[in-house]
Amino acid sequence: MEFYEAIQKRRTVRDLSDEPIDPQILKRILSAGFAAPSNDHMRDWHFIVLTDRQVIQKVVGKIPKTVSPKRVEFIMRSWRLNDECQQKMYADAIPKQYQMLLHAGCVVLPLFKQKGNLLAPRSLSALNAFASMWCCIENIFLAATAENYACNLRIPLGDEAQYIQKELNLPDDYALPCYIGIGKPKETFTAVAQKEIEIEHRIHFNQW
Ligand SMILES: Cc1cc2nc3c(=O)[nH]c(=O)nc-3n(C[C@H](O)[C@H](O)[C@H](O)COP(=O)(O)O)c2cc1C
Repeated sequence: MEFYEAIQKRRTVRDLSDEPIDPQILKRILSAGFAAPSNDHMRDWHFIVLTDRQVIQKVVGKIPKTVSPKRVEFIMRSWRLNDECQQKMYADAIPKQYQMLLHAGCVVLPLFKQKGNLLAPRSLSALNAFASMWCCIENIFLAATAENYACNLRIPLGDEAQYIQKELNLPDDYALPCYIGIGKPKETFTAVAQKEIEIEHRIHFNQW
């Protein structure tokens, strides 16, 4: 797939088929992650690839399994989500957080080495490892798209990350920025509209 086509085609897909991914394709997708810029040149990233359905079920076990429409509405109100396009995205996303990972072809847990407290950085550069990890994750999303797969992601909430750390015996000095589900989009999948922007209003030459 051509580069700009992959960029345009990449979407967050929360309706994935649980058909397993060819390990060679997965290796190419994760290798693309390792080609991302890394703050300290060390590319100190690891990936736990979950293919065993029982392990996936255990790992996603802390995510709420169902969220009623009433609860979704309450969450959106309390987060003050007033934009219609944004509301549609959250209305789609909130109830699918558990299923989108449970039924993915595989779940990938990216890990990066974090020195110091990620939640209390003393400077912008204290966040460099976190920022690099996200460059790596975007490469993975684009590579998966180019391979005709799709991804979704969830930021661990509450004690989800500590739970996974313990269950999978992850080293203490590595942090988990998100869960990634990878798989083939289900035939019934329809994408939520992306927020429209006018590029001319977002690019500023020489001054704001
Ligand atoms: C930093 C970050 C955090 C996100 N957190 C979540 C999440 O917890 N759950 C989820 O379903 N999607 C999550 N997303 C996906 C966004 O909802 C999605 O990228 C956005 O709605 C735009 O849609 P698109 O990816 O299809 O263009 C996150 C994306 C980013 C970049």
